[in-house]
Amino acid sequence: MPLSLDILTLFPDWFAWLGEERHVKNALEGELELGVYDMRTYSELPHHAVDDTPYGGGAGMVVRVDTTVAAVEGVYGQPLEDVRKARRIIAMDARGRRFDDAYARELAQAGAVTLLCGRYEGFDQRVLDHVATETLSLGPYVLAGGEVAAMVVTDAVTRFLPGALGHDASAEEESFAPALDGLPEYPHYTRPLEFRGWEVPEILRSGDHGRIAAWRRAMSERQSAE
Ligand SMILES: C[S@@+](CC[C@H](N)C(=O)[O-])C[C@H]1O[C@@H](n2cnc3c(N)ncnc32)[C@H](O)[C@@H]1O
Repeated sequence: MPLSLDILTLFPDWFAWLGEERHVKNALEGELELGVYDMRTYSELPHHAVDDTPYGGGAGMVVRVDTTVAAVEGVYGQPLEDVRKARRIIAMDARGRRFDDAYARELAQAGAVTLLCGRYEGFDQRVLDHVATETLSLGPYVLAGGEVAAMVVTDAVTRFLPGALGHDASAEEESFAPALDGLPEYPHYTRPLEFRGWEVPEILRSGDHGRIAAWRRAMSERQSAE
């Protein structure tokens, strides 16, 4: 299924390299449509401001709800309610649903996804409550902004689109995939056979595919337990 993936950010230039990444480039020639939009463009405030000081006091600025809605409605030329029905609108937020393999696969099948990148102290809570359809976190730590998170999501999701990885690579036998029952992937080795006394495990040279498969499974399970 084609995927329309849009990113709303205050730093659209940062995303230029993404389209040059091999697998994203491949996907762009196929089922991926990637849009990057500057939220400031749609702000009618002086100097195209998008943030303001927090009610209740405190340090830092907060990304406003009105300028965020203006950006969403401006990009799609539709009222927010209609956009929310047509696409998953995902606000990047450290407190959100943890991004993982299953989430990435889900988004690759979602059809239409918009990623909202926060900055400063984050979004006005009303963005999370009424604009976004969900929130996504890369993990329990705070990034300076949602851009790196949106890049991670784009990279991981794009790998699941047809043709993204070319003919000789597959996203199916990777760490955490259902094909590996959600386990981390087994270790890989290539030439040289021996380097500074570090040897490739004998079993991988045995040619015994059954034993190799069993060893790989055991290694995945061991890494999962560590
Ligand atoms: C400096 S952070 C705001 C942190 C917020 N005040 C807090 O304590 O959770 C600015 C923006 O970066 C993004 N961000 C920060 N950490 C993130 C994470 N772990 N996952 C996804 N996005 C994150 C969000 O878009 C957030 O609005």
